[in-house]
Amino acid sequence: MAYIEWTDSLSVGVKKFDEQHKILISIINELHQSLSEGRTNDVMSKILEKLLDYTIEHFAEEEKYFIKYDYPETTDHKEKHTKLIDEVVHLKNKLDEGDITISYETMSFLQNWLVEHVLQADMKYKNFFHSKKVD
Ligand SMILES: [Fe+2]
Ligand SMILES: [Fe+2]
Repeated sequence: MAYIEWTDSLSVGVKKFDEQHKILISIINELHQSLSEGRTNDVMSKILEKLLDYTIEHFAEEEKYFIKYDYPETTDHKEKHTKLIDEVVHLKNKLDEGDITISYETMSFLQNWLVEHVLQADMKYKNFFHSKKVD
């Protein structure tokens, strides 16, 4: 069983974003798998970089839709994205500097980092995009 399982309860009602969230989950699962296999910091850092790159891409895509459809919570949601990116940049820098290693505690941080954002922030646009006929 994967570390994080995507279920319908995570669906934000926009297919494209659900697919992107599944990819983010799969990258976090890959990091978890690598941790349990005892991979080196270097391997972990590359996976974190992949997570960072894909997160940036995904957030940009959501923000493009916010602007296009004039989503009223755009500013607040964008601020949350910036904070989330900063957190992973910080984590990766610490790992690269040898200050930390990826632990099960880090994994649980990343799980919450993603799942809480989807459930608390992304879920708020579900009805909005539904009303705009975006699926
Ligand atoms: Fe998202
Ligand atoms: Fe978001």
